Amino acid sequence: MSDSPLLSRREGDVLVITVNRPDKLNALNAATLDALDAAFAEAAGDDGVRAVILTGAGPKAFVAGADIAEMNTLSPVQGRDFSLRGQRMMRRVEKMPKPVIAMINGFALGGGLELAMCCHLRIAADTAKVGQPEINLGLIPGFGGTQRLLRLAGRAATLELCMVGAPIDATRAAALGIVNRVVAAAELEAETLKLATQLAGAAPLALRGVIDCVNVGGECGIEEGLEYETAQFGLMFSTDDMREGTTAFLERRKPAFKGS
Ligand code: COA
Repeated sequence: MSDSPLLSRREGDVLVITVNRPDKLNALNAATLDALDAAFAEAAGDDGVRAVILTGAGPKAFVAGADIAEMNTLSPVQGRDFSLRGQRMMRRVEKMPKPVIAMINGFALGGGLELAMCCHLRIAADTAKVGQPEINLGLIPGFGGTQRLLRLAGRAATLELCMVGAPIDATRAAALGIVNRVVAAAELEAETLKLATQLAGAAPLALRGVIDCVNVGGECGIEEGLEYETAQFGLMFSTDDMREGTTAFLERRKPAFKGS
């Protein structure tokens, strides 16, 4: 097996990125954070990639957290820098101009749940467990967990997960709005690929518009958010894909979107 922290493969227009440290349950060390940052930067600029799936290697874990062995010896300044390194990469994922789906194949703990939460959609195997167990290490989440979990699942769930530190199963995670869908573990890859392929066939500029509106709207008041949505909506009328989509509907045929 390669010792690269990541594996990448293409399934048509879908890029599958796999965190590849199965012997450490895909824990995020600095090298893996940097490799993910570079991989997402490249995927953002590659017009041939229309959707991304992010997952973890091996049968047990999506990502079991930030690398505890690496963190053990960090100074306060290095700890702050490690947090910034993770946050920067995850913000890049969140702001990707194309859909990113977290395929949660096992433990998504600490930095693993934080990584999943910055993706646009999350599909979990029914065997997966998610949580923010940093409290058990005398730590708090440092890659955006307190903030993104709060926005996804609200105060009660965030305080519970971060203060109690116990993992929850996929079904409860779905009930709390942390994951979009739970599927049988054996179906996870096929179901995720099906969804990613569907998104890869959707209008790229409209998808980007949705992602941008949700990212902006999550951080501002309703008036500003509505104004942003209106501007994006208007912008869609300059695209070939909008003409194609509406014309295809009227002609009762399937649209072919090109991203222009
Ligand atoms: N950082 C570094 N190494 C990790 C890790 C992490 N977050 N999570 C797991 N590993 C390593 C283990 O140290 C072990 O390595 P070793 O074989 O060299 O000793 C290997 O991955 C397998 O993990 P292990 O604990 O033996 O598996 P398990 O099935 O008994 O338990 C977990 C699985 C997920 C419950 C357990 O690994 C765990 O609690 N991990 C840490 C979760 C965490 O606190 N994450 C937040 C970090 S901020």
